[in-house]
Amino acid sequence: AMSRFPLIPVQGVPLMNHIADNWDSVRAFEPHPSDLLIATYPKAGTTWTQEIVDLLLHQGDPEVCSRGLDLLKVMPPPRVIKTHLPFQLVPEGFWKNKCKVIYVARNAKDNLVSYFHFDRMNQTQPEPGPWDSYIQKFMDGKRYWEEREKNNILYLFYEDMKENPRREVERIMRYLDLSLSDDVIGRIVELTSFKAMKENPMANYTFIPMVVFDQTISPFMRKGEVGDWTNHFTPEQSRLFDEDYGRQMKSSGIPFRANI
Ligand code: PPS
Repeated sequence: AMSRFPLIPVQGVPLMNHIADNWDSVRAFEPHPSDLLIATYPKAGTTWTQEIVDLLLHQGDPEVCSRGLDLLKVMPPPRVIKTHLPFQLVPEGFWKNKCKVIYVARNAKDNLVSYFHFDRMNQTQPEPGPWDSYIQKFMDGKRYWEEREKNNILYLFYEDMKENPRREVERIMRYLDLSLSDDVIGRIVELTSFKAMKENPMANYTFIPMVVFDQTISPFMRKGEVGDWTNHFTPEQSRLFDEDYGRQMKSSGIPFRANI
């Protein structure tokens, strides 16, 4: 097994060491105004949204895949860039250059369950430890919500994508100023279903070596459902979590989704 790397705090935010060690160049990154940023708390629906965006930008052609961090510098804009950075740590250039930004949020308890299983299988993340203490870890994505109008951020919810994928794919399409035929949109909806992505070797992360992502412990495309938290939280854990969530998200105005 690989050694698990500790996270390194940058301005109070625990980051993976390859980002923390290169923090100055991350901050100074100059995006092109046509670049698109997909920002999420980890496990909120990043890969799903990336896949939808990739397909929208390539008229539903599944052969095209535009991922890869080292490629960024040599890739011509518009580039699709993914980040898990909280709002305050995102390179200024994205706001200065008025880049399009899509934020994806997910109900906090499902998000946490997904993160827990990811930390079990991702051999580079710190050990998650027992579930009961893992629950203390909490996300706070309210800055993106507060900034969404000023910065023209498209703010999506995982639960809305599950409820009506076509509606949300069309929402993303309009945000990207694209107009695709009903056929192409239908194909994109199919190609980005949980089942299709779980079976797609370009989307299911089986290209990451097993020593890094041990998917025998928990597959990257794990369940893809709303409400799996009920299989993990005891009623007491859920009550405490809701209390804490209510406290931390008070006055944010984000629709309360912890109980979905
Ligand atoms: S990461 O590591 O931050 O990029 O992870 P991320 O992609 O944000 O989140 C992974 C969870 O998203 C689920 N997923 C999907 N759900 C529904 N439909 C589709 N197409 C889809 N693709 C990925 C994935 O299964 C993880 O959630 P859980 O609850 O663990 O299954």
